[in-house]
Formats: sequence, structure tokens, C-alpha cells
Amino acid sequence: MTPAISLPRLRADIEALSVFGRNPDGQGISRFCWSPPHEEARAWLLARMKEAGLTTRVDAAGNVFGRLGQGGPTVMTGSHIDTVPNGGPLDGALGVLAGLECLRTVREAGVKTRRPLTLAAWSDEEGRYGGLFGSRCFTGRIDPKQIPAIRAIDGDRLVDAMTRAGFDALAAPTARCDPKTLAAYVELHIEQGPHLEAASIPIGVVEGIVGIRRYRLTFLGEPDHAGATPMERRKDSFLAAADYALRARDHVVRKGSGRSVTNFGHVEVAPGVSNIVPARTLLLQEMRERDPRVLARLDRECLALARAVARRRKCRVRIERLSRTLSVRCAPRVMRAVEQACAALGLRHRQMPSAAGHDAQNLAHVTDSGMLFIPSMGGRSHRPDERSHWKDIERGGNVLLHTLLALAR
Ligand code: GLV
Ligand code: MN
Ligand code: MN
Repeated sequence: MTPAISLPRLRADIEALSVFGRNPDGQGISRFCWSPPHEEARAWLLARMKEAGLTTRVDAAGNVFGRLGQGGPTVMTGSHIDTVPNGGPLDGALGVLAGLECLRTVREAGVKTRRPLTLAAWSDEEGRYGGLFGSRCFTGRIDPKQIPAIRAIDGDRLVDAMTRAGFDALAAPTARCDPKTLAAYVELHIEQGPHLEAASIPIGVVEGIVGIRRYRLTFLGEPDHAGATPMERRKDSFLAAADYALRARDHVVRKGSGRSVTNFGHVEVAPGVSNIVPARTLLLQEMRERDPRVLARLDRECLALARAVARRRKCRVRIERLSRTLSVRCAPRVMRAVEQACAALGLRHRQMPSAAGHDAQNLAHVTDSGMLFIPSMGGRSHRPDERSHWKDIERGGNVLLHTLLALAR
């Protein structure tokens, strides 16, 4: 008989991890990779892994691993313990802690698997210093020459953040794995959208993950007197940026695939006072889409639009590409294992794409990689009130357990 996870134990772990980086208002969690709360959470996680009888290791990119069993290629699971600013308790944490609970359950039940099982907590998934950093290093998808230039939006350099946490950023690419040591990767995550809950389906079997492109657009105008300069003479960089944001959104909605999305998540206006016309406006934009051809076309069209809008508004625009994550298809072997686990547990499931980015998409370049989702209450995520029903968390944990055992058999 296949064992079952302990929900009380998993719940206690989720609640314990959620304390690290909890905001003073007691609501959201801000646990950025390499920050003191993150490093305290890392130490806590390593202690929990050791207690569970796992052999632990932290690599040069700050990825945390806990292994059960020896020899041969390993079946991996995991996610991340960093959060977005003012985030919730489940994004990333669920996949890591449910993975820990699965390995603990396997060990306690004395179940022997042919392949070892490894739990991973990947560094900086949320991308304060550039998305999916740890899994990019692990899968060899980082250009070492770019590391000194990587900065957070507030200017903090990755090399400094890693130094403060006791790591050498320049050594991070040495975390690159040998794909021959991997047998498969499967990640449990909350859906972060509304579809599973709306359809009353407890498990989503992820069939592919979106591609994401991120840009920094700096619109440049002139800093004139906000009272004395006639309106028609102004070169207002904020108006150019705002005009572009509205038009780009409309373009992506009308000319994308129907599922294409875009977001402007950060705006900076300089000099930033009421009596000077904005001379410089910075926008952070991202676009997401499953079909790489559609994404490449939207990329070209939006950047051309930015230049055209800037010209029309008598401004200029500087465009910097920040990151480019490729869309991937999940491995049929992993999807089948998840579906069979659902069947064994009598749970309804549905294949669905992931509109969020995940470390599983980097792992897909080195091994058979897949994911399963559980419903998010109200579709809410990346916000303090991100929740899933505990029953759904338990179901997801047990599907993950059955899937890992099937892949490691
Ligand atoms: C990860 O949270 C993402 O931005 O998709
Ligand atoms: Mn996540
Ligand atoms: Mn996230």
C-alpha cells in the first residue's frame, strides 16, 4: 500500500516558514533571496531536511538540496522559498515543503525506490535579481559575463547581495549540473489563477509553461517649468510612457493569441516633483505567451510601438532587454505519472498550461520535467491573502508522493 503524507505536519511546516520575512503588519511576506529573512529560512529548511534524514547540500548558486537514497540518476522535486514583495505563504513554499513531507513519508514508511529522491529549493525564483536564477545556473542557462551587471530594481547588485549572504556570485555558474545525474523533475505549485477552482477540479496537470520577456524602457523628454512652459512645447516623458503602456496593452490583447498578457509593474518618474515636466520615465514591462512565434512578433511590434509613441510625443526611448525565458512543453512521461497518481487517488484532473514562470521550465532543458497545480482560492496569488484549502494542499501532496514513487520505481 502506498503511504500518505501527514497534513498536520505539512501545515505546521507551511506555517513555520511563513514567519520568516513576515511584514510588520502581520500580513504579507517579503522574503527576498539572499536577504537576512531568506537566509534564516534557508537555515531552518536545512535543519528540517536533516531531521527528516536527508543528506543536504547547498551549491554555489545557493540552491538547497536534500537527498534520500544513493547512486544513479535522481528523481527531483522542489520549488523556491523566496517570495515577491508582500507575497503570500504558498507560492514556492508549498512545492518545497510538500516535497519535504513526501521524502519524510517515504523514509518513515521504509519504501525502497530504485532511484534516489532529491528535494531542491531553487534560488531567487521570483527574480529580485533576475528570474529563476538558481535553476538557470543549475541548468547552465546563465551567461557568467553578465553576472557583475545583474541588479535589483533598487540598484542593489547581485554580487553584493550574495556576498552579504556568504556566497560568491561569480562562482554561481559552477553549480551547473551533469544531466546524466537526473532522472526526472516534478514540481507541485498553486495554480495562481482562477481556473481549477472555477471548474471544481482538484489537480491541474501542467502541459506547458509560458515564455516570458522582460524589458526596461526609459522614455526621455525635457525637464521644463511646469507652469511657464506652454503645453504644446512640452516633451513630457511620463505622457509618452503612459500613452505607450495603454497602446501596448491594447496591442497585446487584440493582436496576441488570445492568451497573451503584458504588465507594467514598475514606474519611475524623474525628477519626480510637481513643478517640473517629467524628463525621464522608466517602465518595467513584461510579456507572456505560450507560442514562441507569437511572443517574438509581439516583442518586435511592441518595441516598434514604443519608438513610434516616443517620436510622436517628441521624446526618445531607450530599450533594454532584461530577460527572456523560453516556453516549454512538459514531459509526457511526467504528465502520465501525475495523471496515474490522480487516478489511483480517485481525483479528477485536467491538463492546463502554466501562465506563471517556474523553475520546472529550466529543468525541462536537462531532464523530463513537469508540474502539477492545486486550486488557488479566488485565483489569488502574489498577494498577502494567497491561500489554498488545506484539503487541496493534502491532495496535491499525495499526488506528488505517488508521482515521485512512480518516477523513482
Ligand atoms: C513567478 O512568480 C512569475 O513571475 O511567473
Ligand atoms: Mn512560484
Ligand atoms: Mn511567484
